Amino acid sequence: MADSSTLDVIVIGAGAAGLHCAATAAKRGKRVLVLDHAKQAGKKILISGGGRCNFTNMYASAENFLSENPHFCKSALSRYTQWDFIGLVNDYGIAYHEKTLGQLFCDHSAKDIVAMLMAECSKYGAKVQLRTEVQRVEATADGYVVHTSSGMLQASKLVVACGGLSMPKLGATPLGYQIAEQFGHRIVPVRAGLVPFTLHEADKERYAELSGLAVDVVAENERASFKEALLFTHRGVSGPSMLQISSYWFPGETVSVNLLPDEDCFARLNELRQSRPRMSLRSVIQEWFPKRLALTLCDQYQWPDKNLADCTNSLLQRVADTLHAWQLKPNGTEGYRTAEVTLGGVDTNQVSSKTMESRLQPGLFFIGEVIDVTGWLGGYNFQWAWSSGWVCGESV
Ligand code: FDA
Repeated sequence: MADSSTLDVIVIGAGAAGLHCAATAAKRGKRVLVLDHAKQAGKKILISGGGRCNFTNMYASAENFLSENPHFCKSALSRYTQWDFIGLVNDYGIAYHEKTLGQLFCDHSAKDIVAMLMAECSKYGAKVQLRTEVQRVEATADGYVVHTSSGMLQASKLVVACGGLSMPKLGATPLGYQIAEQFGHRIVPVRAGLVPFTLHEADKERYAELSGLAVDVVAENERASFKEALLFTHRGVSGPSMLQISSYWFPGETVSVNLLPDEDCFARLNELRQSRPRMSLRSVIQEWFPKRLALTLCDQYQWPDKNLADCTNSLLQRVADTLHAWQLKPNGTEGYRTAEVTLGGVDTNQVSSKTMESRLQPGLFFIGEVIDVTGWLGGYNFQWAWSSGWVCGESV
């Protein structure tokens, strides 16, 4: 049990943001204690990226983040960049590679990143106390008192780094939002992001047999567009394109999916009608897609099994329009159980973008996912944790 009489900073949450903040503050000579109710630090880091942790993105910038205030993240992201974190990873000799689209993954294991963060904490003397339930916090004349399952602790500064609501089985709780509300902060309504879609019964049945099949698509709505893979699952649709667009989706809306983004279908069908008039429409579609998907689409839209020579322009146009703008109407999402992130959170207008300190309550700080800043899929969320954690650690 840590001696609380001498603490400068208590950080609630030994996740990505909390550990990086703690090490940064301790490096400046602050006496720091990190509290977490989990048995293990950095649980989400450990399972992230399929166990290899997509720890940052080489192209990270403010455009890759959602927030009511899209400018808020700029300062932290520019003061502690992906290259700063990559520098730290290099210092520890952790091998990594770019998988795709600037996404950097450990060659070996996500454990390397957690071990690095813990080593940084221990190098500078930040203590990490696990299996400690935080019951409530209160502000006093000298700072903050944190009531925990292992007793009362106090420090002059309190950093809330306990993340969002996604994956409760990994230890996610609403504590961060509750502390924010206790001190008068507004919470931007929260919802699951980077999450698979579920489908209405008829579509679910229709596409169920496609489970496991992936196609490269462009998924879009009026807010965003992503060119990545779509994966049919036994519950609905997933894959990077669906996870990405889910963060920009609201219940009742349709997602438009370009199933053949690199082809001009109408032009190609016309061309084939000239060059191979005896070829059937269905066999062209089977050349474009895996057979199971081609047949499902033909049946769903009742495209006839005719030779191209017998297809009218309007039929070919209809086929092309459907393939370029396939309308997918999700029933909902799988929710926090499988979501990678929580959208919304502590309103950025009431937090300093330079220090992450509350504008309402001196000495109280918010970092990482608990704030209304959410990244795309691809290492951006960890970069936000590192950047916000670092700027806070520098000023706390
Ligand atoms: P984080 O959730 O990491 O940490 C919060 C900590 O607070 C936890 O240790 C928790 O136990 C603790 N806590 C919560 N409530 C508490 C309470 N009441 N008392 C005490 N402690 C409490 N991002 C990315 O960039 N690349 C990737 O590869 C992935 N992959 C990925 C996979 C999966 C399956 C998930 C669920 C998420 C990802 N992410 C990701 C997202 C990324 O994991 C996430 O954005 C960061 O971990 C957020 O960092 P934080 O430190 O803010 O919260």
